[in-house]
Amino acid sequence: MKTVYSYLTLAALTCSATSSSIDASFEALHNANLNPWKRATPQAPNGYEPAPVDCPSTRPSIRTASGLSTQEREWLQKRRNNTIEPMQDLLSRLNIEGFDASGYINNNRNNATALPNIGIAFSGGGYRAMTNGAGGFAAFDSRTPNSTNSGHIGGLLQAATYVSGLSGGGWLVGSIYTNNFTSVQAIIDEGDDGIIWQLQNSIVEGPESHGIQLLNTVQYYNNLQDTVTSKADAGLGFNTSITDYWGRALSFQLVNASEGGPAYTFSSIQDDEDFQNGNAPMPILVADERAPGETIISLNCTNIEFNPFEVGSFDPTLYGFAPLRYIGSNFSGGELPDDERCISGFDNAGFVMGTSSSLFNQFILMLDGVDGVPEVVTSALRGILGAIGDDNNDIADYSPNPFFHFRNGSNPSASTERLTLVDGGEDLQNIPLNPLIQPVRAVDVIFAVDSSADIIPPTDSAQNWPNGTALVATYERSLNDSMQNGTAFPSIPDQNTFVNLGLNNRPTFFGCNASNMTGPAPLIVYLPNSPYVYTSNTSTMQLSYNITERNAMIQNGYDIVTMGNGTVDSQWPTCVGCAILSRSFDRTGTDVPDVCRQCFDRYCWNGTLASQTPAPYFPELKLAPIDVRSGVGKFAPNVLGVALAAALSGYLML
Ligand SMILES: *[C@@H]1O[C@H](CO)[C@@H](O)[C@H](O)[C@H]1NC(C)=O
Ligand SMILES: *[C@@H]1O[C@H](CO)[C@@H](O)[C@H](O)[C@H]1NC(C)=O
Ligand SMILES: *[C@@H]1O[C@H](CO)[C@@H](O)[C@H](O)[C@H]1NC(C)=O
Ligand SMILES: *[C@@H]1O[C@H](CO)[C@@H](O)[C@H](O)[C@H]1NC(C)=O
Ligand SMILES: *[C@@H]1O[C@H](CO)[C@@H](O)[C@H](O)[C@H]1NC(C)=O
Ligand SMILES: *[C@@H]1O[C@H](CO)[C@@H](O)[C@H](O)[C@H]1NC(C)=O
Ligand SMILES: *[C@@H]1O[C@H](CO)[C@@H](O)[C@H](O)[C@H]1NC(C)=O
Ligand SMILES: *[C@@H]1O[C@H](CO)[C@@H](O)[C@H](O)[C@H]1NC(C)=O
Ligand SMILES: *[C@@H]1O[C@H](CO)[C@@H](O)[C@H](O)[C@H]1NC(C)=O
Ligand SMILES: *[C@@H]1O[C@H](CO)[C@@H](O)[C@H](O)[C@H]1NC(C)=O
Ligand SMILES: *[C@@H]1O[C@H](CO)[C@@H](O)[C@H](O)[C@H]1NC(C)=O
Ligand SMILES: *[C@@H]1O[C@H](CO)[C@@H](O)[C@H](O)[C@H]1NC(C)=O
Repeated sequence: MKTVYSYLTLAALTCSATSSSIDASFEALHNANLNPWKRATPQAPNGYEPAPVDCPSTRPSIRTASGLSTQEREWLQKRRNNTIEPMQDLLSRLNIEGFDASGYINNNRNNATALPNIGIAFSGGGYRAMTNGAGGFAAFDSRTPNSTNSGHIGGLLQAATYVSGLSGGGWLVGSIYTNNFTSVQAIIDEGDDGIIWQLQNSIVEGPESHGIQLLNTVQYYNNLQDTVTSKADAGLGFNTSITDYWGRALSFQLVNASEGGPAYTFSSIQDDEDFQNGNAPMPILVADERAPGETIISLNCTNIEFNPFEVGSFDPTLYGFAPLRYIGSNFSGGELPDDERCISGFDNAGFVMGTSSSLFNQFILMLDGVDGVPEVVTSALRGILGAIGDDNNDIADYSPNPFFHFRNGSNPSASTERLTLVDGGEDLQNIPLNPLIQPVRAVDVIFAVDSSADIIPPTDSAQNWPNGTALVATYERSLNDSMQNGTAFPSIPDQNTFVNLGLNNRPTFFGCNASNMTGPAPLIVYLPNSPYVYTSNTSTMQLSYNITERNAMIQNGYDIVTMGNGTVDSQWPTCVGCAILSRSFDRTGTDVPDVCRQCFDRYCWNGTLASQTPAPYFPELKLAPIDVRSGVGKFAPNVLGVALAAALSGYLML
């Protein structure tokens, strides 16, 4: 991952792109509701092409990051109140002996800020991360059948304030939210006949043409090209890159709308009923800032967050936020000059998800040399590569840069008209924790689902498990005086200790002792990918999964966060409750119940180090395996995924 860019340069291709105007059907699309599910809405004025709109009465501007946005603060009032009932139900179900959960919540009912403030984070790691994370998401979600039974932890999602995702984890979070906060179960119930998460259809071949998807592979590529060309040709200073193609392609997998919903914007989530009324947590996607061709220095790269209201950073470098709905407008010095129009539609949902996962845009570049890729695909691809040109733009191009001439002294891109963003995991912080450890957000506990592939081939082809690298990276950044900017993080041991003590094989709490930290920081409930009923260490490069495999990944993910619904440790659900309450106990001066002390003894990392080189890590299934061979349905062979995995194995750890 750290080296891959320099090796992957575009082949000089002579085929030039067939340029054509936007398909007329797009014009109709954003007004028509063609879809069975309502969702984040097609608010963009002209499909994928950003276009001028009337400015709001207060002209949009860039703000400094000295606090939360007014919109987030207002939304929090509703959200915190709405977490009270679900939290009361959840804590009662989790059965914390010697602790009156209902009484505790009732005593603090009039002051939601005294109650636990929960964040959930889903790491990157391609489809492995999306599906493993989806299992966790389903387990946290009280809408999943049986998730509120004894041994389960459903309702955690309904009690949470924030849900962040990065790269493959961002596909999960972005997809759920662009589809009207649908549930993982609802997606599974669609079987192999649904529109989204049809991972048996490789993203390089496009969707199967049925239902609302009417395109064959060639039309799919033409569609990607036409939509991206429409943005490039808009004459408003937009520069497209390979990430535009990637984001459009992803949309066909993730957005339940005809042709991947070219007009669906990430900012439209703010108008979703569930979100607006505070009935769902706030989704946040994470990316990194990096100039083209530059190498990321883990400690000083600026972390960028996208939430439904804004894009920007709390880092001391950029330290500012732009209104997401109006990016693409020509801001300068934090203002939109009087003679500049308001632009909308730049924050296409797929483009935002593609930005957070830009590492994977390399797929598109690699295909030309892979055996087994149909000729029809490679020729379509050459057309696209020709359109991109020889410049290896392996970035997402946010031109015009909303932060142009904003905070000239410290903002690394203040003097460039381009803001270039890349995969949020490139700085090794592969779990999107940065937005959740900001002191202004006052998060008490973060459930961190880690699907990273840290232990990578060629160590052994069966690896791809996490080893704590993502937590180490965030911890190290929190110790860096020039970047931490008021954030604190629990102390985290080295990766050898993770492997030697099995901290990467079972849930572990970090930061149990709130007084042993440089400042207020959340308790981290680390939930590493590990095998319960399925060997879920699939390659990051695996580009397609048949439905049975996909569902096995999801089921294993469910078992990871519930410890097999309490079958591996019957006390685990109680311990989840204790983790939720830990900071709140401190804040309200409540005695910690005995059962919680036992949990903390069992699950908290106690500061012990074991830094010697570990033996090779080959974890065994904790429960009886699922048989994926018994699956039924129609599936495409996984030729592309296997070929690509072979071609690229060893490069990528995300
Ligand atoms: C979104 O889902 C909710 C149920 O959670 C439903 O009440 C609402 O009507 C849906 N919104 C749209 C626009 O379909
Ligand atoms: C939240 O609940 C408190 C206490 O019941 C109440 O005073 C406040 O108005 C509520 N806020 C919102 C936005 O509903
Ligand atoms: C609400 O609780 C917080 C944290 O316990 C406390 O700091 C604050 O003073 C309380 N506010 C009110 C109005 O009681
Ligand atoms: C829910 O649990 C019941 C028994 O406890 C079981 O029969 C049923 O199949 C489960 N449903 C799902 C969707 O897992
Ligand atoms: C952006 O596009 C414009 C016009 O299409 C072009 O002149 C300019 O060189 C491009 N900038 C970059 C950085 O690619
Ligand atoms: C990060 O630090 C390196 C080495 O000190 C420096 O060369 C680079 O310019 C810095 N990058 C940013 C974005 O500040
Ligand atoms: C964070 O960085 C900004 C910009 O440099 C600075 O103004 C602010 O005081 C910093 N906050 C903390 C808590 O250090
Ligand atoms: C942990 O993962 C990193 C890559 O993220 C790797 O460099 C390191 O060797 C691994 N260490 C162990 C003990 O697995
Ligand atoms: C845990 O419950 C979920 C949802 O009902 C189910 O899919 C999974 O198979 C269960 N796991 C075990 C180990 O029973
Ligand atoms: C801390 O944990 C290690 C292993 O995880 C254990 O061997 C040791 O006894 C524990 N120390 C204390 C003081 O509990
Ligand atoms: C407490 O903090 C010190 C560093 O200040 C660290 O070495 C130690 O591991 C921490 N202990 C725990 C349990 O976090
Ligand atoms: C799904 O993939 C598995 C390999 O992981 C294979 O054994 C199984 O036969 C496939 N199922 C179908 C229906 O193709």
